[in-house]
Amino acid sequence: MLRIAALCLLPVAASAEVAAPRAVALERMVIQDCGSCHGLTMKGGLGKPLTAEALDGADPEALALIVLDGVPGTAMPPWRPLLTEEEADWIAHYLLKDQK
Ligand code: HEC
Repeated sequence: MLRIAALCLLPVAASAEVAAPRAVALERMVIQDCGSCHGLTMKGGLGKPLTAEALDGADPEALALIVLDGVPGTAMPPWRPLLTEEEADWIAHYLLKDQK
């Protein structure tokens, strides 16, 4: 019982903030890994365009879930093994604010 309570008290990631060096790595990942399907400038390829314009009005939480879980039945892979939820959230906001 006590042990369960202690587990619940484990610190939850305080915010969706990502440390600066990790942000640089994530940006590179978006360009290189995501860009391999979505285009280096996110204008689309095998995957849909991911420019802020194309994603206009998208819910960042929904985008982060797509990034984490992929789109079943399509080439969009799940990134959950490589990214934390905070990092997926960071990428969603990064895409929405556009990369130019
Ligand atoms: C192997 C190719 C591939 C890679 C790599 C890839 N994607 Fe995708 N992605 C796709 C495809 C294909 C779709 C379209 C799925 C569909 O038909 O709904 C997609 C869809 C998406 C969508 C939904 C777009 C929309 O308007 O519905 C988002 C967001 C997305 N990808 C983000 C990413 C991010 C971020 C990365 C890198 C972490 C990434 N993708 C890497 C192939 C890829």
